[in-house]
Amino acid sequence: MQNTVQVKPDIIWVGGNDRRVNRFENLFPLTHGMSYNAYVILDEKTVLTDTVDRSISVLFMENVKAALAGRQLDYLVIHHMEPDHCANIEAIVQAYPDIQLIGNRNTYKFLTQFYPAFAFNHFITVKEGEELTIGKRTLRFYMTPNVHWPEVMMSYEVSEGLLFSADAFGSFATIDGNLFSDEIYFPEGIIDEARRYYVNIVGKFGSHVLKALKKFSDLNITTILPLHGPIYRTPEHIGQILAAYQNWASYDFDKKSALILYASMYGNTENAVDILASQLAKKGVREIKVYDISDTDPSYLIAEMWQYSHLVFAAPNYNGDLFYKMDALIREALRLNLKNKKVSFISNATWGGLALKTMQGYFEDDKRFAQVGTPVEIPSAVCEGTVDALAALADELSASLTAD
Ligand SMILES: Cc1cc2nc3c(=O)[nH]c(=O)nc-3n(C[C@H](O)[C@H](O)[C@H](O)COP(=O)(O)O)c2cc1C
Ligand SMILES: [Fe+2]
Ligand SMILES: [Fe+2]
Repeated sequence: MQNTVQVKPDIIWVGGNDRRVNRFENLFPLTHGMSYNAYVILDEKTVLTDTVDRSISVLFMENVKAALAGRQLDYLVIHHMEPDHCANIEAIVQAYPDIQLIGNRNTYKFLTQFYPAFAFNHFITVKEGEELTIGKRTLRFYMTPNVHWPEVMMSYEVSEGLLFSADAFGSFATIDGNLFSDEIYFPEGIIDEARRYYVNIVGKFGSHVLKALKKFSDLNITTILPLHGPIYRTPEHIGQILAAYQNWASYDFDKKSALILYASMYGNTENAVDILASQLAKKGVREIKVYDISDTDPSYLIAEMWQYSHLVFAAPNYNGDLFYKMDALIREALRLNLKNKKVSFISNATWGGLALKTMQGYFEDDKRFAQVGTPVEIPSAVCEGTVDALAALADELSASLTAD
């Protein structure tokens, strides 16, 4: 049975939730499922903006049919050709054979790649700034490449200032009845999952996000309708999510404190970082956070890294080199373009290896990072000398935290 939500008198949410999926992109753990948003606009012409993931295809087709209330579908605007939004294009074209598909040149390219056996006869290619008038409403198309795929575009509805923003401003977690950010605890209820979504999926493309934000800075935006997560329709919440994106895309931090990320097999490295955290707290550092990286999914850790000004990496030597989960974590964070951080290091060696060198190597000769303090090398277990070295590192860290 259909389950639609009225966004405006003539705009209907036809999306849905997947609560069975454990990992988005089969990669990022989901603790509260995932939503896929799509919208039907009823004007002189009818428009569907995007489709949904195949996990909710049946509900989606029912929703579209119900929203149209017997009318035909004139246009499908394809903002993004990733399968979590394009999985039902063929089904839509089969159900509404006279439909015209709207996208850009890359959209068409990807469409033919994802649907190699299907002939799309009615595809309209649009360019930056082109408009489609559908009656009272007009959609203007903005190309926003690499937010987060090359073909991504957004639509701005001119008469009311509605931004159909593709994956931008999206979030993990389901829509639980309340489709609008002003109907949930905001930002507390969603911002952590919105950040984790942004950092891990869009984070690499900060410069492209900033370009898109600049394009929209002159527009009057009254509503943001993303492809995942809540719709934003109050000036306050729109301001907050735009400001958050500006901050995240600028690789800025909002916590001037230390995030301590450690790996430890037998607890000795863990012991050292707990001592460091206590020493930092004694010196007045607040909001310190310590994570066992073997225990927490990297998507959470990298989202945390985005927030902090100072990062401490602590890991043992393992088979002559860096404990591989730490190695993978650092490499993935750097691939996502993590930058503008102060970094410190702790390693643990019983007989020796490259752990410290490898960690440092990822950040040295890179102006986007500065090392704080002398690295601490734990000789298997924490000894008096280690405690002194940790105290020296705590001194340097707290000095750096107050200086910058
Ligand atoms: C599989 C394995 C490989 C190891 N490889 C190295 C190594 O290459 N070099 C080294 O100095 N210590 C190595 N160690 C020993 C660790 O440095 C030692 O266990 C240390 O206490 C680990 O810190 P933790 O107590 O925080 O896990 C290895 C330990 C294990 C279990
Ligand atoms: Fe996407
Ligand atoms: Fe998506």
